[in-house]
Amino acid sequence: MSYHPETEAIRLQTTRTNEKEHSTPLFLTSSFVYETAEEMADAFSDNGPGVNIYSRFSNPGVDEFIAKMVALEKAENGIATGTGMAAVFATFMTFLKSGDHLISASAIFGSTHTLLTKYLPKWGIHHSYFDAANPGNLEKLVQPNTKMIFLETPSNPGLDIIDLEWVGRICNEKNILLVVDNCFATPAVQQPIPLGAHLVLHSATKFIDGQGRVLGGVVVGSKELIHELYLFVRNTGPSLSPFNAWVLSKSLETLHIRMDKHAQNAFTLAKKLENHTDINFVRYPFLKSHPQYDIAIKQMSNGGGIVTFDLKGGIEAGRKFLNALKMISLTNNLGDTRTIASHPASTTHSKLNEEERQSVGITPGLIRISVGLEYFDDIWADIEQALQASASK
Ligand SMILES: Cc1ncc(COP(=O)(O)O)c(C=O)c1O
Repeated sequence: MSYHPETEAIRLQTTRTNEKEHSTPLFLTSSFVYETAEEMADAFSDNGPGVNIYSRFSNPGVDEFIAKMVALEKAENGIATGTGMAAVFATFMTFLKSGDHLISASAIFGSTHTLLTKYLPKWGIHHSYFDAANPGNLEKLVQPNTKMIFLETPSNPGLDIIDLEWVGRICNEKNILLVVDNCFATPAVQQPIPLGAHLVLHSATKFIDGQGRVLGGVVVGSKELIHELYLFVRNTGPSLSPFNAWVLSKSLETLHIRMDKHAQNAFTLAKKLENHTDINFVRYPFLKSHPQYDIAIKQMSNGGGIVTFDLKGGIEAGRKFLNALKMISLTNNLGDTRTIASHPASTTHSKLNEEERQSVGITPGLIRISVGLEYFDDIWADIEQALQASASK
């Protein structure tokens, strides 16, 4: 019997052992044993019984985490990796070869951009970027050797929203693989596979853990595609650790309830910031002023947990704002119970020149807030006093 995805995220569990545990146990073991030499030989045969052999290949706790993600994303199968970047890299390496072309949104996570620009060309794989805020020319970028379209929606940190059904249609017409990094939304808010994506991947390090503890990644899709990925991960080794899988699987039990509260706090914050005198603009997918608001409400069940805003005082005001915060954490991560602030122009994107930053929507005064689960008035009090401090001469 199968349940709603929210229930599967709570109830899917490894087979109960003789100890009769209620909560899922931790299978902290590198390898698995056999009763006989014949059983061991069978385990390694091509059409074997699918038993656990070695935790680089599979582990009951890792499989539990994958099964929950598959249910949540409405996919057929999945594979887990040690980090989100391992999920991105394994996907590129499995489905692209020398001579292939890839189209990607330009507003993507920094390390993904590094993979595309620094590493893939070494193996003869080239890319074209499209503007996520203005994707109209996407079809014109398709070449006879285009094998994959890669995108994030909402994007980091610009919060651009791309119409997944529209890109899905283009990919299906042209026989191109659509890969979506669903890290910012999570499957509690948006499921790209029913909208046309072939593979969905995550940095599980973010909202999926949700408490800033462990690194992890996951890719889900059809049985055939995931089998290819499984062979790549099994043989090259970026596997998820059983301990991290145990943490992540327990976290999924509260994913929906956390994402509802993240979004409630984030939407309240975005609305309060919209009328603030020291701010040029506020970005949040469910604000009517968001340029792709109509797409956001079509494909997301709420606006997610990230808000960005642009300080009128530019880069100096951005630094002052961060320095004035008393409760909110200054850290690189996002998707934590604790609210986090970052100033991309002076930190994560400081290596880009002004023009490059502008092209991905990073203005000098842009602040990104990953809105946590604290009592809203406390989040607002900290932001309000830091806004005052950053506006002062
Ligand atoms: C959208 C997105 N994708 C991928 C990653 C990479 O994930 P990880 O840090 O788990 O390797 C991140 C990390 O911040 C991210 O924000």
